[in-house]
Amino acid sequence: MKIIVCRNYAEMSAESAKIVADQIKSKPDCVLGLATGSTPEGMYACLSTMHRDEKLDFSKVTSVNLDEYYPIAPDNDQSYRYFMNFHLFDKVNIDKSNTYVPDGTAEDPDKFCADYEKLIEELGGVDLQVLGIGRNAHIGFNEPGDILYPDTHLTELTPSTVEANSRFFDSVDDVPKHALTMGIASILRAKKIIVLASGKEKHNAVLKLLGNTLETKYPATMLALHHDVTLICDDAAYNG
Ligand code: GLP
Repeated sequence: MKIIVCRNYAEMSAESAKIVADQIKSKPDCVLGLATGSTPEGMYACLSTMHRDEKLDFSKVTSVNLDEYYPIAPDNDQSYRYFMNFHLFDKVNIDKSNTYVPDGTAEDPDKFCADYEKLIEELGGVDLQVLGIGRNAHIGFNEPGDILYPDTHLTELTPSTVEANSRFFDSVDDVPKHALTMGIASILRAKKIIVLASGKEKHNAVLKLLGNTLETKYPATMLALHHDVTLICDDAAYNG
């Protein structure tokens, strides 16, 4: 795994935005796999600035997001669809009909998940997947457990993730307890992966990620199966 240690959050955001921008410049009709959470917000801000100031062109880009709460309406300001519109899609010239986020209102989630896998395949796969990492080393919403799932699926969030994500909601009771998420194999099928991590509270997850073991209780360790992963983190996440 390639590792880029940045001095701080701003530098991590700029560094990761540069990798995404280089992907778009080298293949304007690329498929980006995108992530939510507070970690990539700075990267999205940098990309929006690059679009405004340097005319970084998103017009031919397609995006597929990793995950979404379930159930949740797209216009709920805690939905990942809302997040993506707010932090990136409304700020660049991407065609919104080419942006895909799992549907938190799907009536038949299992069918939705199977269709999402087909969609990614029909798009030709993800060229560059952006990942954050949970404090418990989850990726997407692939939570620690005895087993992991390869493909997009409906999952139950662990109490620790519900707790960690409750900071965005009025109360912990408002946090959805389920989510739709790409599976480990869906993520590993991307041609290239970058993992962003910032802050001391991610240090243990980063240690596991770099630990050179495969452990279902630390889902991010599965990234060791991929040949082109770059960790971009700040000093606090790397050194604790
Ligand atoms: C969330 C998301 C993940 C994200 C992670 C870390 O629950 N499902 O995709 O990477 O948790 O979030 P944050 O960046 O806010 O710490």
